[in-house]
Amino acid sequence: MAVAVAGCGGSRSGGAEAGAGQSVFQKLCAVCHGPDGRPPAAMVARLGVRDLTAPEFRARATPALVEQQVRTGSTNKLMPAFAGAIDDAEITAVAAYVASPQFVAPP
Ligand code: HEC
Repeated sequence: MAVAVAGCGGSRSGGAEAGAGQSVFQKLCAVCHGPDGRPPAAMVARLGVRDLTAPEFRARATPALVEQQVRTGSTNKLMPAFAGAIDDAEITAVAAYVASPQFVAPP
């Protein structure tokens, strides 16, 4: 299988799964949620993007919750549904990454 060289940056350290989830996040989520999960103020003002590093969210963040959100998007449609846009493995990987402690405590 051909492995495309990703265009821009992104460290590949850590486990394969964390790496895949991290690259999906940087590619598809960071534009709204910010590269480290803290959304830029403008995104909060315009879309009401949630801070994925907020203690309130970390306390209830599970892979299942994140996966559900990524598959279906938000009820208010401001976050798009990714089901069909990316494959299941990518959804699982990004959900595991966002729910993992590594997400808020990078090495
Ligand atoms: C177009 C902007 C946009 C993109 C791209 C986006 N999101 Fe969101 N996201 C939002 C908004 C807006 C909300 C808040 C929706 C609401 O108020 O219900 C949200 C909410 C969430 C929540 C729920 C947080 C909570 O407090 O329950 C999670 C988890 C989440 N996003 C993860 C992701 C992941 C993972 C990706 C990439 C696959 C992603 N988002 C891509 C805009 C975006």
